[in-house]
Amino acid sequence: MAPVTKKQEYTGDYPEKTLYIPGPTEVRDAVIQEMAQPMFGHRMDRMTDLYTTIVEDTKEFLGTDNEVIILTGSGTEFWESSTLNLVDENILVPTCGSFSERHANVAERLGKDVDRLEYEWGEAVKPADIREELETSDKHYDVVACVMNESSTGVRNPVEEIGDVVDEYPDTYFVVDAVSCLGGDYVDIDEHGIDVIFASSQKAFAMPPGLAICVVNDESYERELEKDEASWYGGFQRCLDYYDRKGQTHSTPAIPIMLAYRKQMKHMLEEGHEARDQRHREMMAYVHEWADEHFAMFPEEGYESQTVACIENTQGIDVAATIEQVSEKHDMVFSNGYGSQLGEETFRIGHMGEHTVESIQALTDAIEDAADL
Ligand SMILES: Cc1ncc(COP(=O)(O)O)c(C=O)c1O
Repeated sequence: MAPVTKKQEYTGDYPEKTLYIPGPTEVRDAVIQEMAQPMFGHRMDRMTDLYTTIVEDTKEFLGTDNEVIILTGSGTEFWESSTLNLVDENILVPTCGSFSERHANVAERLGKDVDRLEYEWGEAVKPADIREELETSDKHYDVVACVMNESSTGVRNPVEEIGDVVDEYPDTYFVVDAVSCLGGDYVDIDEHGIDVIFASSQKAFAMPPGLAICVVNDESYERELEKDEASWYGGFQRCLDYYDRKGQTHSTPAIPIMLAYRKQMKHMLEEGHEARDQRHREMMAYVHEWADEHFAMFPEEGYESQTVACIENTQGIDVAATIEQVSEKHDMVFSNGYGSQLGEETFRIGHMGEHTVESIQALTDAIEDAADL
């Protein structure tokens, strides 16, 4: 293969920029500092203290009685392992943007029979369509896999209602990709038949990237036990049995990021899941008001994300140039639309994690300045 990218020597003199992209997002200094500690062994008592603390604190924060796995890797890991652990043959994936499409791609790559329920980008998945598909299909679906927050379009799917529908089909598991919203958008996991839900640390948890968080119920654990083949690294059984026996991870984890996680999760517990949800709602409301004044929201009305605003470029501003100018002049970074499809048609603001209405307002002021709005 001919190399396309040449080495660019790291110079380490990049100016600091405030992140308003849909992750990674801003991380508090105290959390960053936690990572700079002498190393210790992953089979020491200290590791058991660290891992059991972050697992149990996460359960408490999310208000779930299900099991929690925190694995070194990113959210992508659980696209793959939830498919391997739960799907024999058929999986139904409602697709409404790039990330839900990628979930379907992953399952195909793993040799599963994937049916997509396709929505236009910007539209949300409807529970009634899922019901119809489950009722009328001649296939048995092992899994329905739905993205909660489609980061490419800024759509928040009604996973609670979809979960209630899938719950009526006891042999069909409901897997939720909540990568870009869990921690910033309240979801009652145990109440809505959500068998597996996962996220990445660098999004609404406001931690450094490198950890994937997954909540798994007993039924999903049991389901994996019945299967001849499953994921090794992300095997629910392997991860949870190891936790039960030793309070550790089955292989060497990214200890510094777990130290950062411990610090940030204490902070999240102090704020509380519902208060965090409320703060994110306020940011969403502010961005909508601003977008309505200058542009328009891209998602179908009523399904706008609480963590990623996707704004339709109704004024035809030069999105790339505006991003550049805001970065140069104000040291703030926001995102263009996703991929070639939405690149200049939309732009995105990650209002997640540690951001507040005030910090988001600083960005919208900067965009107004740069785009001369
Ligand atoms: C909705 C969604 N799912 C999955 C992913 C993949 O997550 P990661 O890059 O942490 O593996 C992303 C990343 O942005 C995402 O936004």
